[in-house]
Amino acid sequence: MIDQLTIDRIFAAADIVDVVSDFVPLRRQGANYQACCPFHSEKTPSFVVSPSKGVFKCFGCGKGGNAVTFVMEHESMSYVDALKYLGRKYNIEVHEKERTPEEIRQNDNRESMMVLNGWAADYFHKALTKSQEGRNVGLTYFRERGFTDATIEKFGLGYSPGGYNTFSKAALEAGFKEEFLTGTGLAYKRDDGKLIDRFAERVMFPIHTVSGRVLAFGGRTLKTEKTIAKYKNSPESEIYQKKMTLYGLFFAKKAISQLKCAILVEGYTDVISMHQAGVENVVASSGTSLTTEQVKLIKRFTENVTVMYDGDSAGLKASLRGIDMILKEGMNVRIVQLPSEHDPDSFAKAHTADEVQDYIRTHEEDFITFKCKLLMADSQGDVAARADVIRDVVASIAVIPDAITRSMYAKECGMLMDINENLLIGEVARIRAGVDSDNETREFFERQRQAKAREAAEAISATQSDSKGVSIGSSLEELEKELTRYLLKYGHLSFELLEAGKVFEKNIAQTIVGVMRNEIGFEFQNPTYKTIYNCYVEQMERLGVGVEVPLSHFINHPSAEVSSAAVDLLTTNDNYVPSKLWDKHEIGIQTENDLLSEAVPRAIVLYKSKVIEFIASQLQAQLADPNLDDDTAISLTKKIAALNKERSNIAKQVKRLIL
Ligand code: CTP
Ligand code: MN
Repeated sequence: MIDQLTIDRIFAAADIVDVVSDFVPLRRQGANYQACCPFHSEKTPSFVVSPSKGVFKCFGCGKGGNAVTFVMEHESMSYVDALKYLGRKYNIEVHEKERTPEEIRQNDNRESMMVLNGWAADYFHKALTKSQEGRNVGLTYFRERGFTDATIEKFGLGYSPGGYNTFSKAALEAGFKEEFLTGTGLAYKRDDGKLIDRFAERVMFPIHTVSGRVLAFGGRTLKTEKTIAKYKNSPESEIYQKKMTLYGLFFAKKAISQLKCAILVEGYTDVISMHQAGVENVVASSGTSLTTEQVKLIKRFTENVTVMYDGDSAGLKASLRGIDMILKEGMNVRIVQLPSEHDPDSFAKAHTADEVQDYIRTHEEDFITFKCKLLMADSQGDVAARADVIRDVVASIAVIPDAITRSMYAKECGMLMDINENLLIGEVARIRAGVDSDNETREFFERQRQAKAREAAEAISATQSDSKGVSIGSSLEELEKELTRYLLKYGHLSFELLEAGKVFEKNIAQTIVGVMRNEIGFEFQNPTYKTIYNCYVEQMERLGVGVEVPLSHFINHPSAEVSSAAVDLLTTNDNYVPSKLWDKHEIGIQTENDLLSEAVPRAIVLYKSKVIEFIASQLQAQLADPNLDDDTAISLTKKIAALNKERSNIAKQVKRLIL
């Protein structure tokens, strides 16, 4: 962890315009700066940087945050890495906080293994480029394969020297413990107790984490004997799980985000040659068929995958099934088949980047229709085989989460296979009925969530985001959002409330906090709003009621979610508060105070009623339990009755406030 003082210094130094300009060309526009958004593709700029607020916000895709979150998002860095990056940029020394002995113990094994791997990668790279043996054997091999020095440097390629323990001896001498040499699998122990190098006389491909640390190796033999395994890989360990790793993702992630597509190939050399040819959005599953975890990893960067196959791949049909899993994650899968004499490695070497991109563009096909055509061609005239094909294609369509996409495919494949689309739809439905219903529900909610997020993004882009305010139909989450917004924007203000013929003055933050704490004793359910609320209360208690809490507490919050939510809330205009322009021209009839004295109480009352409804429904569910003992049932019933009474009181208030 980095100490708070250093974090504060970095935030103070990091000028948002300066930081963003390193990645995006900004144009001045009044007090702000503008550009086309780097996070989504657009032709007219809706990405705005405000130097005075220290924030960026895209009114197209909704992304927003501070200088640190910008670096995190744009460079796919962790919070700590982004701080270190900015520390370097502004010459601020980054001291990491001392860890407790317990933390050290917990992290030690993993960290020691990572450190050893990093050291080993360095050692192998030096052995390749500096030692006589490495240059003669390893470097010559890589050069014959057409890898340039820059490529060898970029991917950190190396060579593990001959002799049974040349590497291990050096590592032990450098102070690394034997347990970590065996733990990482860089060496193993023979029956006679001797430590043996796993990768001796192999060229080395370091395998990186998403953030670029070495967590494993692949080692290729230079011998041609069939009895020797072509590749040896680091064994599974505390730090390396093959199914969770994609080779090349560290080098590809930026291009994947930018091009909105990941190209999937089989092996190390495919990735490297494609990069060298200038095609950088490429990752490899490292020989095995793709796992769900790997697909989820890609999904962090894009939903579009193009699987690239060797022209003559015998395994193509076998791997078709593996691709269903990508579909199941709701991704769009395309497939591109290379000319029969090529694999991605040789194809990339024989062509320029433009030619490769061009080939992909003109030859990639939608996966399901590709599969459909391929299998149909194979089963010409064979009725039984054709029935199998149909079943196979139906199985692929059935795993697609989105119903509309499914029906589109049913239509298209029906045409291709010359069968009635309704028949296909029926078959798909039959298979889906068998799908684990829990899963179904989860997927349903996930889709709802995604649709909501899309809607929200569209709403933001439609106008300079006007809040529609809250109404009876608003959800708990929407009400929490609105209350959080009032806290941030107007928390220090007071409003006048007319009650029983008397005018009361109420501080907005105090009112909201009072309701949350005393009246309903409820916490925000949304974790981000909850954090903002707690942070606000803490500051209010420190500064005193009625003092404006500096927004930097929220905008520069260590949690990216909090920061981004704060920017979102603060850039949303509300139609309760008339613009300055109105005031100037004296068109505004209602004052800010008038409006807030309607909007705030209304949101609070609606929120109370939603919370009570929520709690009552939970109690009602408990009451439905057949094994409930009588006492509990009676006490539950009483509670529910009390809530209902409260609810009808509130309903009257709601009516009053809404009308
Ligand atoms: N692989 C592996 N272990 C093996 C064979 C293959 O881990 N024994 C993985 C490697 O990631 C390899 C990929 O599967 O890159 C594809 O295998 P292959 O096509 O045989 O290797 P290439 O990458 O084509 O290597 P080369 O061109 O050097 O033969
Ligand atoms: Mn190859």
